[in-house]
Amino acid sequence: MAKTQKTYNSNSTAVWAGIKDLKDKTDPPYDQLLPEDRMDGRTVLLTGASSGLGFAAAKELSSRGARVLMVCRRNAVKELVEVQRTGEKEGGSAELLRADMADFSSIRALVDELARRGEHIDVAISNAAVVPGSARTTVDGFEEMLQVNALAPALLMRELLHRGVIPNYTFAGNGRRADSPIPRIVVVASEAHRSANALNLEDLNRIEPYGMAESTPRYGWTKLWLLTYARELARKLAHGADDKPDVSVNALCPGPIASNIAREAPAVAQPFAKLFFALFFQSPRTAALPVAYLAASSRIEGETMLYQFLMRKRAPSDIADSPDNGRELWDTLEEIFSETERRYA
Ligand SMILES: NC(=O)c1ccc[n+]([C@@H]2O[C@H](COP(=O)([O-])OP(=O)(O)OC[C@H]3O[C@@H](n4cnc5c(N)ncnc54)[C@H](OP(=O)(O)O)[C@@H]3O)[C@@H](O)[C@H]2O)c1
Repeated sequence: MAKTQKTYNSNSTAVWAGIKDLKDKTDPPYDQLLPEDRMDGRTVLLTGASSGLGFAAAKELSSRGARVLMVCRRNAVKELVEVQRTGEKEGGSAELLRADMADFSSIRALVDELARRGEHIDVAISNAAVVPGSARTTVDGFEEMLQVNALAPALLMRELLHRGVIPNYTFAGNGRRADSPIPRIVVVASEAHRSANALNLEDLNRIEPYGMAESTPRYGWTKLWLLTYARELARKLAHGADDKPDVSVNALCPGPIASNIAREAPAVAQPFAKLFFALFFQSPRTAALPVAYLAASSRIEGETMLYQFLMRKRAPSDIADSPDNGRELWDTLEEIFSETERRYA
């Protein structure tokens, strides 16, 4: 597996590095999503399902027979109907669940509702993210990009696991039946995580003003936190009751996508950005295939800690891969989550 160190430390270098990576044919895909990769009878929880990659992944998975729980912050009825229509001939279905990733109590309320219903999630996909044009403080007192991109996915996975909504022995003692597939967590990260040269845990509560120009390196830092957390979670869930993972945790960078991620770019730059994305970036539909692969492929059953760029296996940065960093980040986030739990109760 190649270890790459790319410069993603400004908007333009990040864009060019992404396009170059996309066009690079020296490292071919190791597998592909096949028609027989079906999701019949399985429930998928997918955040950020109202736009771009998440919306496309919701359609792809429902067309493979999945029941998709579309977790969205807004009332995305139009998108819901389209996902339902896409899945209906293939036995797929969809439901809209509202949650704001910038609000911990909203995530806890979502998991409460899932637990109350007795839901069992087979695949949880953490996809929602934001690139704000400036620093904003959430109701929980953190910078919004850090909270939405890193803290919220960690809390959501934690709660789904602790409450046994994702069946598991490690945290809930309600692991899957021997004849069921291993539950999966899929984390949408980014190669931009390589731009951050340290976790800088001490910056957790620091909120400094930034503009669109500084948003890319900050975004890379939030994705470093996310990927480091995902690696640690995979380590914690690596051993179930048998010799298989209790829950598999795999991550990917979907590559550059013609999505709405740059929605907060200045209005004058929007038409240019849209044209540029349309010409050089992948469609959300294409970008969703590796996400659907990690959710659906039977050929990776039992594999955990995969990190992919599209359909190429890669090693994450040494910082994201370090078990020491993973433990430190885990402990830091556990403190926050326990504190917010007390306030929520
Ligand atoms: N675009 C790229 O080139 C690229 C490259 C590498 C990785 N990625 C990753 O791919 C994933 C999908 O991004 P995308 O490109 O599809 O962007 P997108 O079109 O902007 O979609 C982002 C999704 O996240 C949701 N979201 C944002 N803030 C939220 C909040 N506070 N609570 C709940 N949901 C929230 C959005 O909801 P609304 O519809 O309500 O806004 C939307 O559904 C992200 O993890 C991103 O980091 C993207």
